[in-house]
Amino acid sequence: MSTPSTPASDEAVLRVRNLHKSHALGATPIEVLRGVDLDIHAGEMCAIMGPSGVGKSTLLSCVAGLESPDRGEIRVLGEDMAALDEHGRTLLRRRRVGIVYQFFNLVPTLTGYENIVLPYLIDGAAPDHDAASRMLDRVGMRARAEHLPSQMSGGEMQLISIARALVRRPALVLADEPTGNVNVATGRRIMALLADALRDAGSAMLLVTHNAEDAARAHRVVFMRDGLLLHDAALAGPAVTSAAVHDRLKELGI
Ligand SMILES: Nc1ncnc2c1ncn2[C@@H]1O[C@H](COP(=O)(O)OP(=O)(O)OP(=O)(O)O)[C@@H](O)[C@H]1O
Ligand SMILES: [Mg+2]
Repeated sequence: MSTPSTPASDEAVLRVRNLHKSHALGATPIEVLRGVDLDIHAGEMCAIMGPSGVGKSTLLSCVAGLESPDRGEIRVLGEDMAALDEHGRTLLRRRRVGIVYQFFNLVPTLTGYENIVLPYLIDGAAPDHDAASRMLDRVGMRARAEHLPSQMSGGEMQLISIARALVRRPALVLADEPTGNVNVATGRRIMALLADALRDAGSAMLLVTHNAEDAARAHRVVFMRDGLLLHDAALAGPAVTSAAVHDRLKELGI
């Protein structure tokens, strides 16, 4: 597969339309996503907030091509995910999407540095050691380069995983509660790193968070309830402050 080119400026990096996804729980499927629509453009950070179990991680998995939706459309860089085969989706994810997980997902048998260059290795590409080295410094983890994840704190593991997600300057960054398991100071650092990387690389970012302060770093905050994104209640631009996010969560009963 040829890697899709950067989309025209008016085309969303991520476009989701009428997305439906059920999870089978025993014999009864529960419809988690019931018609989700979302566009995110280059350089934009969009935060999604909503109650536990509402389907935020499910949405991210579908966008990443790790789960298949029941119906609806997902386009990443203009590429229709449903029109790609499994291999095509995997290549698109590896080459153009960076994923940050709540529980880090580092490979336990690889060192910090090896984890950072993993996106090249699993793609059969030669690692860009200059880029990896710059990322190592950028996240401040040079002293942990040769350590295994088991020898790192949670915050250190997350910083390494941020470096891994960003090393190839992905067009789309998906971050699922990236500060959920680190202390407050590290969480602020992680959000600053993500915001800087987004600005420098012009990436689009979908951030799932329960933290109003993190959400307030986004350009737009969209709330999720009952399987839908409530775009009418979204906050955008200067209206995005942690106080406004708190108020909106209260209004929506989230
Ligand atoms: N593989 C699965 N099989 C069955 N049900 C699932 C599966 N994955 C998720 N679910 C269910 O789908 C719903 C949405 O889960 P999801 O993980 O997307 O929620 P979330 O919004 O990310 O919640 P949290 O804020 O707690 O992370 C939940 O009710 C969950 O139990
Ligand atoms: Mg989740």
